[in-house]
Amino acid sequence: MKIALGVTGCIAAYKAVEVMRGLQKRGAAVQVVMTSSATQFVGPLTFQAISGYPVISSMFAPTDDPEIKHIQIAQSVDLLLVAPATANLLAKFAHGIADDFLSTLYISATAPVLVAPAMNVEMWGHPATQENVRRLKERGVHFVDPGEGYLACRTVGAGRLAEPEEIVSKAIEIVEGRKTAGAEPGGPAATARDSFVAQVAQYNRDLAGEHVLITAGPTYEAIDPVRGVTNRSSGKMGYAIAEAAAARGARVTLVSGPVSLEPPRGVSTIRVRSAYEMYSEVMAHLPSSTMVVMAAAVADYRPVRVAGQKIKKSGEKFTLEMERTEDILSAASGARGSQVLVGFAAETENVIENAVKKLREKGCDLIVANDVSAADSGFDVETNRVTLVTGDGAQEIPLVRKREAADIILKAALDVRSKQTSLTGA
Ligand code: PMT
Repeated sequence: MKIALGVTGCIAAYKAVEVMRGLQKRGAAVQVVMTSSATQFVGPLTFQAISGYPVISSMFAPTDDPEIKHIQIAQSVDLLLVAPATANLLAKFAHGIADDFLSTLYISATAPVLVAPAMNVEMWGHPATQENVRRLKERGVHFVDPGEGYLACRTVGAGRLAEPEEIVSKAIEIVEGRKTAGAEPGGPAATARDSFVAQVAQYNRDLAGEHVLITAGPTYEAIDPVRGVTNRSSGKMGYAIAEAAAARGARVTLVSGPVSLEPPRGVSTIRVRSAYEMYSEVMAHLPSSTMVVMAAAVADYRPVRVAGQKIKKSGEKFTLEMERTEDILSAASGARGSQVLVGFAAETENVIENAVKKLREKGCDLIVANDVSAADSGFDVETNRVTLVTGDGAQEIPLVRKREAADIILKAALDVRSKQTSLTGA
């Protein structure tokens, strides 16, 4: 187990020594990366002597090693842990500012990231810091939030670095959880996963020239001005597909139901609420698209009438009359030209059987069958377990992060396109 430990400039920097020792006791090799401010609080030699590795504190230190250091570390660690993390560091991570080794390591790391902030109570409570924390959490960054207590600035409140044992336990839990999920390099479950991830890694900019239309998130069907019918979709799966498609060079239009995610960079995001609004936007953008991926969890029914005022309580029972919503996927299938059409099927039983039925009934090229009965797959989690169902059969994908699943799904959609092209000779 290899962990990169980032240390930033804060009075709690000395506690990072304890964190490092705790990690070592749990069997981790620790590569320390210090910001230049951190070196004002604790000398790099302290960390170097205990970790047994040279401490990195500069982006441009001369070295005989021809490797690009931050990439080498980013690719080899099981976790990037920053303890303590200052308000400045959180702002840099949240905004992708890469102006020193640690912040550059963050944006090149594929490993999970754990952050343990420490700062003055006002700095921690400031809306800017809280907004950065929210952004990072949405992006999947793990946190050990600061505790309350007497702070170095002689005030009492939240901002104190969490206890080193708590930080160590959380770090180990993340690395071991990831291994159980099959992400351990070289582990048995990792073999299948790594081969899928490696397979797609070579498809850089293979979607250049495509216009990918994606739906994501839930829909919200109003009952009255303050109540509605919705579901647990967080939008993470659809947003990951949008992000992956944009990274691979596509023009991307994302039609999103109500979610709390930030629009992915470089993606034209259209916010909608109801199934009808989603239907209208999809049909408007369908003609210019070349590939359509419908990951949204669209309500199948909506209230027949939406009350103009808040419905008052009356009687013991309340009956809501519902009607079918537009089936957006079927409508797109009926109106499409040469677009590759990918639908999802969220299932809790007979997953493949139901997906095959949807493939046929909804007229898609590919159905991503999503087993949503497991805790680590489907709605509102970071990972997903899907099976790709086409007219040729079903391909099961091991548990992967949604961003990796996104790349795999896009590759499968391109494979469908290649196959269609070779059959028609176009
Ligand atoms: O958003 P997350 O929290 O990341 O969760 C991801 C997810 C579980 C929502 C996603 O992976 C998923 O499975 N999405 C499809 C959810 C769903 O509603 O499945 P369905 O089997 O009910 O619908 C089948 C297909 O028809 C879907 O592509 C759906 O977008 C589409 N549909 C459904 C109803 C409707 N009225 N119009 C549609 O277009």
